[in-house]
Amino acid sequence: MSKIDEILSRYREGGHENLIPILQDIQEAEGYLSENAIVRIGSFLKMSTTKIYGLATFYDRFRFIPAGKVHLRICNGTTCFINGSAGVVAAVRESLGTEPGQTTRDGRFSYELTACQGGCNEGPVICVGEDYHTRIRPEDVPELVSKLKLLADLK
Ligand code: FES
Repeated sequence: MSKIDEILSRYREGGHENLIPILQDIQEAEGYLSENAIVRIGSFLKMSTTKIYGLATFYDRFRFIPAGKVHLRICNGTTCFINGSAGVVAAVRESLGTEPGQTTRDGRFSYELTACQGGCNEGPVICVGEDYHTRIRPEDVPELVSKLKLLADLK
């Protein structure tokens, strides 16, 4: 049984109300929502793929391309925002040359903006896997990206 089939088996066939939880589960398991996954979900829920894409693209959290080898989760919660996360996001955008949700051409990096990650008093926060980078300032970003390139090259 494929990972997608295993996830779908937890839900009621034809249960449209389960679309978002299914999308979340599959993205968590696979890292993104592939065309194959969307087709399988459509068949399972008896919904058109156009409708599924339409609903899924409404939410920023869903990805339709694989994440980079290194995926940054940049906190954009209220406290981090007050402490300058917008400048950090701009610096990451400039450093990587991509927008949130995209993957760099070399496949090394992707990033997303998140809600509060629970480290408000040390924000702005960037989470990479299990590592939390705290009190990040825009001028810290180039060095952080350089270090993370080495990590990406090891993967
Ligand atoms: S708002 Fe960023 S960690 Fe809470």
